Amino acid sequence: IDQGEMVITYTNALNMDLKHMERTFYIEKLPQMTPAMVGNGESDTPGSQYQKGVKQLVDNGLHTIPKRYILPPSDRPATNSEDSNVVKQNLELPIIDFSELLGPKRQQVLQSLANACEEYGFFQLVNHGISDDVISSMRDVSGRFFDLPFEERAKYMTTDMRAPVRCGTSFSQTKDTVLCWRDFLKLLCHPLPDFLPHWPASPLDFRKVVATYAEETRDLFLMLMEAIQESLGIIEGNEEEETEEKDNILKDLEDGSQMMVFNLYPPCPEPDLTLGMPPHSDYGFLTLLLQDQVQGLQVHFQGQWFTVQPINNAFVVNVGDHLEIYSNGKYKSVLHRVMVNAEKKRTSVASLHSLPFNCTVRPSPKLIDQANPKRYADTNFHTFLAYVSTRESKRKDFLDSRKLTSTCLQEENNFH
Ligand code: OGA
Ligand code: NI
Repeated sequence: IDQGEMVITYTNALNMDLKHMERTFYIEKLPQMTPAMVGNGESDTPGSQYQKGVKQLVDNGLHTIPKRYILPPSDRPATNSEDSNVVKQNLELPIIDFSELLGPKRQQVLQSLANACEEYGFFQLVNHGISDDVISSMRDVSGRFFDLPFEERAKYMTTDMRAPVRCGTSFSQTKDTVLCWRDFLKLLCHPLPDFLPHWPASPLDFRKVVATYAEETRDLFLMLMEAIQESLGIIEGNEEEETEEKDNILKDLEDGSQMMVFNLYPPCPEPDLTLGMPPHSDYGFLTLLLQDQVQGLQVHFQGQWFTVQPINNAFVVNVGDHLEIYSNGKYKSVLHRVMVNAEKKRTSVASLHSLPFNCTVRPSPKLIDQANPKRYADTNFHTFLAYVSTRESKRKDFLDSRKLTSTCLQEENNFH
């Protein structure tokens, strides 16, 4: 994208930090990649030093965590009380075998998929067809990216939410009063030719490896969404792909947004006092998460936090806010968070997918009738941005704000 050209740019406006709800403003000039918003050594105030990220802190050596990272007791991961913060044993998420979805057992697998999305909002996807090679190259190159000298990563540090490439730390870096134990790199991925030239050129193989991974996860996402629509009864298995159904969003999803989030959770000397990521839901349709063998991801299930047991090379897939809205509440966008530990660093890569940034997300008309009224207001970036700019959004506030109350229901549900 040439600088100064009128383009659709992206902003992670709010919370992408909020909830990964990066969005776009339309017709804005692509922002200049701002130079690192970091100090230069000596002139650092204690506050700005945290903007350099957790890795930088840890690399300089520390035995206790700075105050800025200490959560109030009620929000700490292992709080021993009756409330939902008690850490339980591992949770075995439903396992979906992608290869079976393409075979004679499709109907059964669609049923399992529906159950997983309704009850857990999460599943593990195995036999997904993305080769071990592609996955291990991706893990490898993301590890090497975070191992680059600080100055190299700092080139991409900006608080400009519209940047197509952004390194940062915590969750909502400029808003978090308590910081999270996490550094990240976020890349916009689609359309690839628009964004790839902005991606880091170091490590040398970074662009090639990430581009391959982005394309393959995107294809996988689209196939999953086809299955999900079928599981919701929105499309029939034997329908032509070019169905004319006006609520078939597959076509729009093909042009949809994709954001790759690389997460690094360095070892933490006091893991009980902080989190790698606070409880949040993801904004899009589906997130495909590649985690390593170090556990840390926790899912909120039946009022408790459960740790997700890593399965080598599987994707942890979760329903995002947009799919909850699209399914009119049938599929759940579930809170999850990340714990850190004292011994090992943990890395993950999340690929977040949704409609193009200028599309409206609304419940599928096929799922709405007199018996099942529309439960969410239509939503687009403007409502989202308006929402986040007026609210310190956390958890599932945004999704909650889209839920229709009985008064709006009467206004919105007209079935002529
Ligand atoms: C995310 C996320 C979990 C993890 O990036 O939205 O929830 O294990 N990541 O890193
Ligand atoms: Ni998430």
